[in-house]
Amino acid sequence: MTVTMEKIVNLAKRRGFTFQSSEIYGGLASCWDYGPVGIELKRNVREAWWREMVQKRPDIVGIDCAILMHPRVWEASGHVEGFTDPLVDCRECKARFRADQLDAAQCPMKPSMHPGQFEKCNLTEARQFNLMFKTFMGPVEDSANVVFMRPETAQGIFVNFLNILNSSRRKPPFGIAQIGKSFRNEITPGNFLFRTREFEQMEMEFFVKPGEDEHWFEYWKNERLSWYVKYGIRSENLRLRAHADDELAHYAKGCADVEYHFPFGWSELEGIANRTDFDLRRHSEYSGKDLRYFDEEAREHYFPYVIEPAAGADRATLAFLVDAYDEDEAEGETRAVLRFHPKLAPVKAAVFPLLRKDGQPEKALKVYEMLGEHFTVQYDQAGSIGRRYRRQDEIGTPFGITVDHQTMSDDTVTLRDRDSMEQVRLPIDRLVDDLRNRIEAPRQR
Ligand code: GAP
Repeated sequence: MTVTMEKIVNLAKRRGFTFQSSEIYGGLASCWDYGPVGIELKRNVREAWWREMVQKRPDIVGIDCAILMHPRVWEASGHVEGFTDPLVDCRECKARFRADQLDAAQCPMKPSMHPGQFEKCNLTEARQFNLMFKTFMGPVEDSANVVFMRPETAQGIFVNFLNILNSSRRKPPFGIAQIGKSFRNEITPGNFLFRTREFEQMEMEFFVKPGEDEHWFEYWKNERLSWYVKYGIRSENLRLRAHADDELAHYAKGCADVEYHFPFGWSELEGIANRTDFDLRRHSEYSGKDLRYFDEEAREHYFPYVIEPAAGADRATLAFLVDAYDEDEAEGETRAVLRFHPKLAPVKAAVFPLLRKDGQPEKALKVYEMLGEHFTVQYDQAGSIGRRYRRQDEIGTPFGITVDHQTMSDDTVTLRDRDSMEQVRLPIDRLVDDLRNRIEAPRQR
């Protein structure tokens, strides 16, 4: 079985994971809406991140900052000056390309060739293009009112460093985590959810004493790789790749990417960077506020170093979707099964009456309502039981619960496991606990 992006995109649309933004108007390139099933999946991805990065960590707190920030933030961070990609235009076909990625692009006039290789190509010189989206604050559209849509969530954390220190009495090593939307006017977005212009990041800035940064850099590389495995990605599809010196961002002393083996090749899922004390120093300089930490014991001020695991919620959602994709044969038909970890599965269980008579639908609805207090569940009474299982397999529901003739006399139901297809009989009053145990159980593929 080969997973292709085409299979993933088709299934995603057919079953309500994602839709193209503004589709009835022809769509807006590389912008995606999450449908009823997709939003449950993405919410679970975000919650899994928050659970491991904030809820279970006494040394990390959360924050949720405004998307619009003071324009000086982006001068201090280096984004106004340096957050650029080299851009070339083709005067002939009017297409635009990243000058440093021509080898990976296709010439629109001659797709078997790269831009610049076809005789009719007429490329301009490369010029630097800033990726930040600009808008205006207030009714007057002049340069004094320009604000930027944040291109990373990280800066909201740095500018709140003192607020967090003062309000929650933290001392290094400690972290501040944030999940939220970021915007980049990417020259070449694409590959479905992989690279878009509006996306969600899950970032954590971990502040440490200078000299301890190398230790924490190693620690966070391993922690973040393990997170993807814990939530169901097969380890053979993950790897860590250290950045070469010429790849490092202007603020970084070291960086490693968690990469996933997407259908289009190994690509970045998350970056873990040693940002040194660059950001706190720069914000101190630009704001005039002293952002050093005062170490009571050593009686000294210092700028903490920062280790940053920066992940993308959409990119992670795509990786979980691709990795879960499987196919099997039923009645001579090939069908898709999504083998999500139960914690990430959009719907945890589906409840079916075997027959649409003898009080079974009413009983099944009661079971559905009982489970709905605790989990995202669906009720389905349409079509044969085989078809109903298949519909749920396609959206990755790990458990199917069937109310049948026996239920009406002894209050038991059957529970089917999506992956083993094993069926067990359980009393209805044990279902909530049983399902919870099954969802919580460690599961690796
Ligand atoms: N604060 C550091 C930072 O933003 P980054 O490597 O540029 O680092 C971190 O971004 C993560 O955000 C990436 O690994 C990716 O998962 C996600 N991301 C970045 N640009 C994206 C885009 N255009 N579309 C979707 N996700 C993106």
